[in-house]
Amino acid sequence: MADVQDPIRVAVAGAAGRMGETVCRAVEGAPDMELVARADPALGVELADALAAGPQVLVDFTIPATAPVHARQAVAAGVHVVVGTTGFDPSALEDLRGARANVFVAPNFAIGAVLMMRFAVEAARHMARAEIIELHHDAKLDRPSGTAARTAALMRDAAGGAGHEVPVHSVRLPGLVAHQEVILGDIGQTLTIRHDSIDRESFMPGVLLAVRRVATLASSPVVGLEHLLF
Ligand SMILES: NC(=O)c1ccc[n+]([C@@H]2O[C@H](COP(=O)([O-])OP(=O)(O)OC[C@H]3O[C@@H](n4cnc5c(N)ncnc54)[C@H](O)[C@@H]3O)[C@@H](O)[C@H]2O)c1
Repeated sequence: MADVQDPIRVAVAGAAGRMGETVCRAVEGAPDMELVARADPALGVELADALAAGPQVLVDFTIPATAPVHARQAVAAGVHVVVGTTGFDPSALEDLRGARANVFVAPNFAIGAVLMMRFAVEAARHMARAEIIELHHDAKLDRPSGTAARTAALMRDAAGGAGHEVPVHSVRLPGLVAHQEVILGDIGQTLTIRHDSIDRESFMPGVLLAVRRVATLASSPVVGLEHLLF
C-alpha cells in the first residue's frame, strides 16, 4: 500500500513525440511524481512493457487510432489514464464508466484555451453567428482540431441546438504551434476571442493537474479540463 507521501508513479505513451517528450520532462520536474516508463515504437517500448513498470497513471499523447486502445489496456490493468491525444471521439470510452480505473480526456490542456472556450460559449448565447479559425503546425494529423470541434459543439448547444452550426476553418503551416480564433458576428459588430499556445509548456500545468486528480474523480470518464478548474 503506497504511503500518501509517495510520488505518483507515471508512465507516458508517445514519449518520443513532441508532446510526450515535454510531458516526460514536466513529470521528471514535478516533486510529487516519478516517471517510471516511456512507451513509444520509436523507443522500442510497447505499452504492455510500460504497464509492467507499475505506473499508477498513464499519460497518452499518441495517435487517434491508438489512444482509445491504450486507455482500455491501462484501465484493464487498474491504471488511471490521462488522454491528451485528439482526433478520436471520447464518447467511444463511455463504456469504461464504473471500471476499476479512471479515464480523464482533454482536447486542450492549456488553461487559456479552456477560458477561450468558456468565453466563446457565453458569447454564443448573445450574438447571431460565429465561425472558428484554428491554426496549427503542419505535422498535426487531425483536422478540425479537437479543441475547435469541442468549442463548436459547446457553442451550438449554448446557442440553442443544430440550427446554430459553427463552421470551422483549419490552417496548417510551419511555424505555428496551436492557435484558435472564435469570431462572432451580429448587426454592425464583431467580437473576436483568440488564444495562442506559443510553446508546448503551455499544456503542462493542465497535464500535471490531471495526473494529480485522475485517481479521485467522482465519476469516469471525464472529458474537458474545465471539470477540474471550475
Ligand atoms: N490535449 C492537448 O492539450 C494537446 C496539445 C497538443 C497536442 N495534442 C495531441 O497530442 C497528440 C500527439 O501530438 P504530438 O504533436 O506530440 O505528435 P507526435 O507525432 O510528435 O508524437 C506522437 C508520438 O506517438 C507515438 N506513437 C504512435 N503510436 C504509438 C503507440 N502505439 N504507442 C506509443 N506511442 C505511439 C509516435 O511514435 C510519436 O512519437 C496529437 O493527437 C495532438 O493533436 C493534444
